[in-house]
Amino acid sequence: MELKIYTSKEEVAKRFSEYLVKLTNTDKEVHIALSGGSTPKIVFDVLASDFETDINWELVHFYWGDERCVPPTHEESNYRMTVEHLFQKINIPKENIHRIYGEDEPKGEAERYAQLLDEMLPKYRKRPRFDLVILGMGDDGHTASIFPHEIELWDAKTNCAVAVHPDSGQRRITITGKIINNAKEVAFLVTGDGKAEKVEEIMKKEGDYTSYPASLVAPSSGQLTWFLDSDAAKGLMSIRG
Ligand code: 6PG
Repeated sequence: MELKIYTSKEEVAKRFSEYLVKLTNTDKEVHIALSGGSTPKIVFDVLASDFETDINWELVHFYWGDERCVPPTHEESNYRMTVEHLFQKINIPKENIHRIYGEDEPKGEAERYAQLLDEMLPKYRKRPRFDLVILGMGDDGHTASIFPHEIELWDAKTNCAVAVHPDSGQRRITITGKIINNAKEVAFLVTGDGKAEKVEEIMKKEGDYTSYPASLVAPSSGQLTWFLDSDAAKGLMSIRG
């Protein structure tokens, strides 16, 4: 596991973009699961504005690690956010974008998307394998859309599951632990001081850290990188000396 701490969200966005340029610098298809929420917005903006020509988008396939069960035009749609901050600024074939149909009945869509992953992704240990899963972490320690109150979804036997947001009751489609930990690489993008407490507990294995789904992210490949700004990492400065 690698910890990369930068002074600002902007620098996190720049350095992650450099990491992504390296990861996609290949002559074969690359399959990437995107995260949602607000942190990716600045990352996508920087990626599109400063690195658009450094990546061969023809070979990049985008999926989502989770999606809200809302239409693609809804203001809370992770797909819509990604269109606004990335897709409408880069030249990527539309058939390379595999959105989760948040507008459809959740259980059926979770099954459809699970099937899509089986069909589209290379296999590793008989399971679909992303080249990269990008994750965020909520202030409560959730990741993708696996929340502490439903942490058992992490161990679901299926590639995808239907989750429920603990406060809003909003349903979500999420990939599960068997997919996340089967990825070739996983990158956390975590910024802001609202994350600091959970980041510290997870990194120091303190308090109730095992009750946070984000603490369960441990790809068997060992390729896990946390991209943090100093606000999110403020509890770690003692570790780094
Ligand atoms: C989502 C995300 C979710 C997100 C965290 C952090 O659909 O909301 O995938 O897991 O990454 O909630 O969100 P912020 O980046 O907005 O803090």
